Order: sequence, then C-alpha cells, then structure tokens
Amino acid sequence: MNFTARRYLVLFILSLCCLGRSHLAGGEIDIVLLGPGDANLYTEVYENYGLTDPFCGYYVDKGDYLLPAPPLGPGQVDFVEINQMVRKWHEAIGDLDIYSQAESDFFLPGAGSTHIFVALIYGLYQKIGGPMLIVDKLPAYPWRQHIEFLGLPGVRYQTYTNPSEIHLGDGETLVEIVVSPNNPDGATRSYNTNASIYIYDTVFAFDWYNFDVQTIRDQINELRSNGKTVYNFISMSKMLGRTGDRFGYMWLPRSDSELYQNMLSYWLFTCLGNGSTGVQSSLNLMKCLLKDNCYKRLLLKDVKASLLNRHCILTETIKKAFPNVLINSQAGPPFFWFKVPGINDPAKFFLENYGTIILDTTDALLPFEGEPGFARINVMGRSKMLYEFVKRLDPETNYTLDDFLCLSCKCKKQK
Ligand SMILES: Cc1ncc(COP(=O)(O)O)c(C=O)c1O
Repeated sequence: MNFTARRYLVLFILSLCCLGRSHLAGGEIDIVLLGPGDANLYTEVYENYGLTDPFCGYYVDKGDYLLPAPPLGPGQVDFVEINQMVRKWHEAIGDLDIYSQAESDFFLPGAGSTHIFVALIYGLYQKIGGPMLIVDKLPAYPWRQHIEFLGLPGVRYQTYTNPSEIHLGDGETLVEIVVSPNNPDGATRSYNTNASIYIYDTVFAFDWYNFDVQTIRDQINELRSNGKTVYNFISMSKMLGRTGDRFGYMWLPRSDSELYQNMLSYWLFTCLGNGSTGVQSSLNLMKCLLKDNCYKRLLLKDVKASLLNRHCILTETIKKAFPNVLINSQAGPPFFWFKVPGINDPAKFFLENYGTIILDTTDALLPFEGEPGFARINVMGRSKMLYEFVKRLDPETNYTLDDFLCLSCKCKKQK
C-alpha cells in the first residue's frame, strides 16, 4: 500500500474511533466533515425551495442509453434534445456565446466534465497524430493525473510558474490549459503562451461564484480572432452543484467533425457515456430554475451570498485562531486553501485537535506541486459542518447557522 493510501486508511480508522467514542446527544455533530468537494450548499438551497428532486417535465426512461441521434424508443433521449434544453439555459443566463458559436455546433455530453476533458485529449491526440506538450500554470488543478493515466505515447504534461520554463520538443504541438477561476486558488487566469490550442476550463465561471464572466469572453474572443483554437466545457457539478449527476458537456464547430468523431468513439467505448438518471435530474433542475427566472433568487442571491459570507467568516476565524496563517483563496470560488507555518500535517492536526476531516496537500501534493502543508476547506459544504468547525476554532463565536446559509439575505457578514 503506498503512503497516500496508508494515510487515508489511518485517517479513516481514526475517524471511526472518534465516531465510536460518543454519539453526542441532541443530534450534535461529532466528526466535522469538510474534506470532499461535494456541493451540499446547493442542495440546502434547493431543499429550501422544494427543488431537491425537481420534476419540471423531463422524462427519461432510466433503463435506456442516451444516444447521439434518432431513431429513439419511447422515453429515450438523444443529444439533440439535451442540446436544446441546455442551449435554452445558457441563453437565459447569458453565456451561450462563450461555449457555442453557432446553432449547428456538434454537442457532446459526458459523465462529468472530466469525461469530456479526457475525451478531448484523446481526440486531439488522434487528430494531431504527433507529439503534444500540454502546459498548465501552478498552482494547478490536477489534470496531470488524467492525462498521464491515458498513457498516450508522445503526450507530455508540464506545470510551470514562468512560461520561460516551457521548451517545445521537435514537432511538438503546444496546448495550454487555462483554468479560470482557477482551482485551487480561485484566481482569474489568462493564457500565457503562444500555443496552437487552448483548453479553457471555466467550470466555475459563473456570477454566483463572484466571477466576472466577461474576462474569459474577452480572452476567448481575442484568441479566436487571432486564428487560435479554443475548447471549453461545462460541468454540472460546478454550475448547479450536482456532482453526483455526473453530467458535463461541450460544443464543437462543424469544421471540427474529425475531433467530434474521435471524442464520440471515446464516449462510446468508455461505458456509452452518460447515465440517463443524472441527465434527467440535471435537465429537470435547469427547467425548474428557468421557471419564473427562479435561478436568479437561488443562485445569484442565495448561493452567492452564502459563499461570500462563508469565505469572510472562515478568513476571520482562521486568522484569529492562527495569526500567522497564509490564506490562498478568493471570495466566491468554493475552495479555501490555507497553510499554517509549523503545522506540517494539517489533516492529522485538524482531526486530532478539532475533530475535523479536511483535505491537505502534505503527501498528495496535487494542486500545489512541490508545496506541501496546504489544507482545504470545502466552502460549498453543509452549513452545519462549517458552523460547527468555526465554533470549534473560536468557541466564543457569535455567528449563527443563518450566517452560513443565506436564504433570505439576513446574514450579518457580507463584504
Ligand atoms: C477546475 C475543475 N475542472 C474540472 C473538474 C471536474 O468536474 P466534473 O468531472 O465533476 O464535471 C473539477 C472538479 O473538481 C474542477 O475543479
């Protein structure tokens, strides 16, 4: 068993021991879980508006495959229908132009944007037919592991801090990944190289993450007007907090039919793409959110206010508890990374001292390659968990649960 696996096993056993120790009376929380990146905040907001299991008219036979095109059986859904629904959604929220340039574009769904991304790398590799260097600026979302797992001969992945570190090999095509807002630090990013192809990962690029969408619109338009190729995609986990639906998608221009076919092969040979259950639930949710423009209330007000408030409270509380802390995150995007000098194993430290499970980079080293000791709090986590964590860090806190879930904008803190 490698070090990471052993470490998670130890954490798991420790947490079981703590769980077994006492079940606190009155439904109090024993172990605070703030590690995974699930989007419980959205679920809590949807719950408040009766949208946890929405049904606004999308019926998909859950026993059927999703198919690229008709003919279909009863209850089957093809890409065309999904395409129409999601185009309506993006038109309403005003960002369709960033993802699709023409109504005739090819549409491709996937089991999450990860599926789409991997299909895209595979598809580009087939199309280019030669070596590729894929670069990404640090701190970087760990696309490395997905690219390297594919094991395509001639495909290299490199992270960089300064573009001068990039050296193209003979015949290599340069592909730059731009993650904006960036995961892990939430920064607004731009491209840094003169690449042939750009992959924009803008899965958090929504106003409700306090992000100015115009920044990526301008960059993408500039690149395209300079004859560059730009690909980007949507993740339902991030856009509407439906991580478990495993639904992502992208559009490709008709001129890219070879790439589309390559991606479709990948889609077909990796489990026939999507589960219809997740797609049905996502499409229903979109339809419900469009009704009476209710996404404005749920996403642009409640989700956004909660994220901003949570960031503000976490900053204040963590700074109070650890005055020398280094915080590497922005208000809006849902990850709160911090590093306390002297705490070398944050996951162990927070579990032992605060009964809290968090994620860290001590040995995983994923996003902050070469920089261990960062810890992450999932800002989209369950409000009760965040509230409990803050209370453990600062027992004198006078925050209430309402400060973590801003349903009526009655929060105290908001900057
Ligand atoms: C920046 C970024 N891109 C892509 C993904 C993949 O999302 P999914 O496969 O759930 O759509 C994530 C997930 O955390 C992410 O943070």
